[in-house]
Amino acid sequence: MIRLLVGFLVLVINNLYRNRPYPRFYVLETVARVPYFAYMSVLHLYETLGWWRRADWLKIHFAESWNELHHLLIMESLGGNDQWIDRFIARHTALVYYWIIVVVYTLNPRAAYHFMELVEEHAYHSYDDFSRESEAELKAQPAPQVAINYYRDGDLYMFDEFQTGVKPESRRPAIDNLYDVFINIRNDEREHVKTMSACQRTDAKAVINSPHNPASVLLNSQ
Ligand SMILES: [Fe+2]
Ligand SMILES: [Fe+2]
Repeated sequence: MIRLLVGFLVLVINNLYRNRPYPRFYVLETVARVPYFAYMSVLHLYETLGWWRRADWLKIHFAESWNELHHLLIMESLGGNDQWIDRFIARHTALVYYWIIVVVYTLNPRAAYHFMELVEEHAYHSYDDFSRESEAELKAQPAPQVAINYYRDGDLYMFDEFQTGVKPESRRPAIDNLYDVFINIRNDEREHVKTMSACQRTDAKAVINSPHNPASVLLNSQ
């Protein structure tokens, strides 16, 4: 069912946005960060009820949503949200997806993480294909300032925080043009796949910690 849900979403978006990559990525980024909001909402509720406390999970999921926010800001800076209809589609789809994931995560967290693993995997391949097909064109364009700040010149704490498989301060990409930006967005999606996969492990509660936590173990997808 999860696979069908993802397949349906991808099919609709790919057909609607066949020749408009930036609006397509804008819609995908708007929808694709919503599951992290859903995970955080449910985890906050569990903390409020005193059932269990997973502060590091909240921190990681927030850093993941922060990363996706920057993908979204990059797409907006490229004109992806210029048209009213694209904003309408993105926001309404996101609203529906938020509530679906809240319900799925409450009933079966592993299924909700599996859903997101598939979405992130799709995102990785979309950016990989796009970077390959448009390499020359992208290399001729400058990187948006928001990308330079997020990946290179700004405070990189949050950039390190979402990557549970990479030691903090070890990934410091060069951002010289738009191609570098898309390659790094693609690589971010791969890190999300790894984290979502790790969250489904039977020992996830014990092993998933913030990368900045001294007790943290670096996790790989398995
Ligand atoms: Fe993204
Ligand atoms: Fe993503």
